[in-house]
Amino acid sequence: MCGIVGYVGHREVTDFLVEGLHRLEYRGYDSAGVAVMQPDGLIAVRKKAGRVEALAGALESQPAGGSVGIGHTRWATHGPANDINAHPHVGGQGEVVLVHNGVIENYSQLRAQLQGLGYVFKSATDTEVVAHLVAHHLEEQVKLGGTIDDNKTYLRAVEASLRKLKGTYGLAILFRERPDMIIAARNGSPLVVGVGDNEHYIASDPSPLVGYTDQVVFLADHEIAVLTADRLDLRHRDTGRLSPSVQTLNQVSTEIEKGDFEHYMLKEIFEQPQTIENAMRGRFDEDEATAKFGGLNLTPQQLRRIDRIVLTACGTSWHAALVGEYLIEEFARVPVEVEYASELRYRNPPLSDRTAVFAITQSGETADTLAAMRECKRKGLPSLAICNTVGSTIAREADGGVYLHAGPEIGVASTKAFTSQVTVLALLALYFGRMRHLSFQAGKRLIGHLKAMPEVVSRTLECHESVKEVAQRYHEATNFLYLGRLYNFPVALEGALKLKEISYIHAEGYPAAEMKHGPIALIDEHTPSVFVVPRSGVYDKVISNMEEIRARKGPIIAIACEEDDNVAALADHVITVPSVDDYLQPIVTSIPLQLLAYEIALLRGCNVDRPRNLAKSVTVE
Ligand code: M6R
Repeated sequence: MCGIVGYVGHREVTDFLVEGLHRLEYRGYDSAGVAVMQPDGLIAVRKKAGRVEALAGALESQPAGGSVGIGHTRWATHGPANDINAHPHVGGQGEVVLVHNGVIENYSQLRAQLQGLGYVFKSATDTEVVAHLVAHHLEEQVKLGGTIDDNKTYLRAVEASLRKLKGTYGLAILFRERPDMIIAARNGSPLVVGVGDNEHYIASDPSPLVGYTDQVVFLADHEIAVLTADRLDLRHRDTGRLSPSVQTLNQVSTEIEKGDFEHYMLKEIFEQPQTIENAMRGRFDEDEATAKFGGLNLTPQQLRRIDRIVLTACGTSWHAALVGEYLIEEFARVPVEVEYASELRYRNPPLSDRTAVFAITQSGETADTLAAMRECKRKGLPSLAICNTVGSTIAREADGGVYLHAGPEIGVASTKAFTSQVTVLALLALYFGRMRHLSFQAGKRLIGHLKAMPEVVSRTLECHESVKEVAQRYHEATNFLYLGRLYNFPVALEGALKLKEISYIHAEGYPAAEMKHGPIALIDEHTPSVFVVPRSGVYDKVISNMEEIRARKGPIIAIACEEDDNVAALADHVITVPSVDDYLQPIVTSIPLQLLAYEIALLRGCNVDRPRNLAKSVTVE
């Protein structure tokens, strides 16, 4: 995980670096640091355990002015989160300073070899190995006759080092003897170069560049970029020099500001009427009562041949996939399997050439989802993605796919991405259904329901006040159970995940009927159960499950439709939501659960947008 920024040009670099690190904090926030070229020819390194705020404080008491520098915000993999393990790391005697995102799998062998050569390690990180390795190869290059003012000397040292690394990296490297240059390299961890006016930027994703430049070059694996203020040289490990393909970003800076909201998570929850609308915009074909997609890149013949769909994802996206399974099987009658990407990548399931694999991901950078997609691609299957982040690795590597258009999701807890994913999956169910046996009338009906969702979701958000009351009552509980059936089973899983990740309360999601096969043993008067029980085909069954909890004195919080007397009679607290057909309920019922997790986390004094131990994009295995 971790976030990287870098700059070479004419600006005061620490301002950009610190602001950029703030924007990348979603990728990790165990520690932060910067390295800046100094007029005296040295590289100043400032680093601090904790959030970027702590680094900003350190820079106030000990400034490091300059116009070339790199920065890093860390999600710890090797070694605890402390000042020493914070990046940047120094190689040799200070001639190389670098930041790294990724994992070096063979670091212990390399460390032993470098120690044998006399290199002294200060940290417990895998990254320091890369710093010393580059310093070592730089020395070798100089011995071979390379001069310190020739770019090739540095490039060769970096290339020789990279050849020895096993694992993943996004690297930004400073060299003491070349105060006008940064070398960046990528394998498995994303990097984007920003092209400005006599200046260049480097970052893990485009968010730090917003407001500075909209001209970007996404690096691919095994590419190396040599950046000076006025030049960008791009090389590929195997093919040599490349000409950079510059793209224009269309992100606007307001999308990554909190506006009037206290937290990104709350802002993103309240954006959902709009983001659901965005997910559907231009995707209805009213004449044919179906959906249309610009980027699937498969012919109607190829799409009609598909007789099995695999949805692969992690975390919240995996929960959306479970909803997708129900939707696609109901409307298109195509068998669907949902696979954790972390399992799929190492399994060898039978996959025929009539199977389509969809990777579902908000960030487009999740390491397991990327690896699962690549594995399926290697086996010759069309790889498709449902992705939010334009230009992300998965979006670029997929053969085709559908964007969510939800805008940047900054809060670590995924909210608007989930409802957008479900919306897109409903559109796909309609599309595949109409290619098979779904009738024109049924297609029309589904379109009508989908079109109503932005307004329905606006009304759903009115539950916020009653959610606050429930949160006030239960924020000190230590265990929660979330229960739902059919379309609301994935919602129960998602509600439990939201609560766990931002409030640190243990929570389990279960299909409501499964509860009596074990979890019911947890029930007592201190363990609330959250029932997701809107009117549906299994409503009576869920009511019976509520009775079972009530008989054991478990407090019940119900997410139910307005004016539901049965639920009101059984539950201690009812949070009401508008009534919609079963298959669109996840878009509605997930919202009070997002708000409940948010309000409970607030009352417990947790950092809602940056929960402990987590990062927004999980770019390591
Ligand atoms: O970016 P992705 O959708 O691939 O991320 C997958 C999970 O890491 C993510 O959904 C995670 O579970 C969220 N923090 C949950 O809120």
